[in-house]
Amino acid sequence: MSATTEEQLLVRRIREGTVIDHIDAGKALLVLKALGITGREGNVITVAMNVPSVKLGKKDIIKIENRLLAVDETNKIALIAPRATINIVSEYRVKEKRRVELPDLLIGVFNCPNPSCVSNAEKSIASRIEVIDREKQKLRCWYCGRMLEANELISSIY
Ligand code: CTP
Ligand code: ZN
Repeated sequence: MSATTEEQLLVRRIREGTVIDHIDAGKALLVLKALGITGREGNVITVAMNVPSVKLGKKDIIKIENRLLAVDETNKIALIAPRATINIVSEYRVKEKRRVELPDLLIGVFNCPNPSCVSNAEKSIASRIEVIDREKQKLRCWYCGRMLEANELISSIY
């Protein structure tokens, strides 16, 4: 129901915006990268890492004020933070709580690890990674056809 005392002391509640909760510990910066959030947007963004959590032991939390992230945006983080909870906050209340779901196609989120792939040769071409098997996390580059593992894709955005 309510967040832990430690968490409340660490990061205050927000009035308006999106809270990404239950991110696996240490993954918050990758989540921001996948979302294309740099901090140069100007709104207040709070990142808390390694926060004690009953469910996960430790977790990361991101609070993005004055921005409501859409379903197709937050689904981009499913490979990185599969247990994340998206909370849409309005007037201090959680008005929507949802999970993330891996989409069929990930555009411009990860880089194809194949150095000779056209998506790496041409800056103007955004990567296109198809999800072949959601359960087994089998993915494939739409351009070069290489089969890809979740781990190598995640490390491709560092
Ligand atoms: N939150 C916030 N500002 C608000 C309301 C909520 O920053 N005005 C944050 C809380 O700190 C928490 C998350 O949004 O990290 C979800 O809030 P809530 O649903 O109240 O917490 P829990 O019940 O603990 O969530 P869950 O059941 O998903 O664990
Ligand atoms: Zn490729």
